[in-house]
Amino acid sequence: MSVLSGKRILLGVCGSIAAFKAVALASQLNQAGAEVTTILTKDAARFVTPLSFTSVTQQPAYIDLFTPDPGRILHIALAEKADLLAVIPATAHTLARLAQGLSDDLLTCTYLSTRAPVLVAPAMDGGMYSNAATQASLATLRDSGAHVVEPLEGRAASGLVAKGRMPEVDALIAEIRAVLGKNGSLSGKIVVVTAGGTQEPLDPVRYIGNRSSGKMGFALAEAARDCGARVVLIKAATTAPPPLGMTSVPVTTAADMQAAVNEHTAQADALIMAGAVADYRPETARDQKTKRTGDPLAIRLVENEDILAQVPRTLVKVGFAAETEDVLKNAEKKLTSKGADLIFANDVSHPESGFGADTNRVVVLSKDHSPEPLPLMAKSEVAAVILERVAALVQERSHA
Ligand code: CTP
Repeated sequence: MSVLSGKRILLGVCGSIAAFKAVALASQLNQAGAEVTTILTKDAARFVTPLSFTSVTQQPAYIDLFTPDPGRILHIALAEKADLLAVIPATAHTLARLAQGLSDDLLTCTYLSTRAPVLVAPAMDGGMYSNAATQASLATLRDSGAHVVEPLEGRAASGLVAKGRMPEVDALIAEIRAVLGKNGSLSGKIVVVTAGGTQEPLDPVRYIGNRSSGKMGFALAEAARDCGARVVLIKAATTAPPPLGMTSVPVTTAADMQAAVNEHTAQADALIMAGAVADYRPETARDQKTKRTGDPLAIRLVENEDILAQVPRTLVKVGFAAETEDVLKNAEKKLTSKGADLIFANDVSHPESGFGADTNRVVVLSKDHSPEPLPLMAKSEVAAVILERVAALVQERSHA
C-alpha cells in the first residue's frame, strides 16, 4: 500500500498562477488513494475555482471561514482530521500570514489549529522570493517544523528568470510522500539502493551493458523514502524516470558502483542491491575507437568483484537473484555466497518479471525461513513488501 493510501490531505491553495498545478496535483493524490479536501484563499479563487477541486477529488473545497457546518466549527474539524496540511502554491503574502500567526481566513485559522505536519511550496517571482521579508517568513516556518519545498530556478509566468518557480506535480508528490512517511518504520535510518545496469567501456564509444531499466531499484528507493529512511540511490544506466526526494549518486562501471557502495554504506543501516552489475569487464579499454580490420576480434574479459559479497555483514544486506533457470537452487547459493540477509529471486526470462516490466514475481529467501513465493505484483507493491522485511531486520539489528 502506498504511503498516500487513505491519508487525509488538506490542500491549501493560494492566489498564484501556479494554482493551476494544484488541480493536477489534487487529481493525482486522489488517484493514489488520498482523501483531498481543498481550502482556497479568496485570491486563489481568481485563478482556479472550488469546482475544479471538487470535480477531481470528490471532496469539498472551501473558501469562506464562516461556511455553515452544522454541529462543528469548520476550521477546527478540518484541522483535527488532517494527516497533512500542504499549502501549494504558497504566496509571499500567505507565507507571511502563516509565519506571523494571522488568522484572517479559513486557511490561516486551520493552520493555527492543526497538529498535522505542514508543507509549503512557495511560488512567486524571484524578487519576491529572495526578499528578506519572504526569507524571514520561511525561516520562521522552518523553525516551527514546516517542510519547505525548495522552488526552482526558471522562467516564471512574468517572463523573469530566477529562483521562485514551483516544482512540477511529480516532484511535489515525492515531497508529500516523504513528509507523510517521515515517522515510518525506517525513520532516522540510512538505506543505500543500487539501480540500473553498469556499463563497461570497450573504447571511447562502445561498452558492454545490460537491459536493466532501473524500475525495480527506483521502486525500492521510493519505498524506503516513504518509510522515513534517508535514501542514497546509486544509479547506473537506466531508462525509467528517476525518483525524487533522495540523494542520487550517478555511476557508470561496476568498479564505480563498488566505490560508491563502499563509501555510502559506511554509515548505512541497509544495502539493497537491485543494480544489474556486469560480472566481467574488458581487460583494457582502448583509448581510440576500435577500427574494423576484416578479421575476427577477440576481447579478453576479467571478472569484477562481487559488490554485495564484499560489504560487511554489520548492515542488512539484500540482493536479487536474476535467473533464467534453476531459480531457487541458484538463489539459495547466492544467499550463502554473498552473506545476504535476504535474496529476492526472479525469473528474468519471463515477460512479467523480466527487464523493463512494470510487474515482478519474486520468491523470498532468507537464512531461517523456507522460500516464500509472493504473487505477481506491481514493482511498487513488491518494493513495499521488501521494505517491510528490511525494516524488521534493521529494527532487530539495532536492538541486538
Ligand atoms: N551483484 C553484486 N556484484 C556483482 C554482481 C552481482 O553485488 N559483481 C549483486 C546484484 O546486484 C544482485 C545479486 O548480487 O543483488 C545477484 O546478482 P545476479 O546477477 O543475479 O548474480 P551474480 O552474482 O552476477 O551471479 P551469476 O551471474 O553467476 O548468476
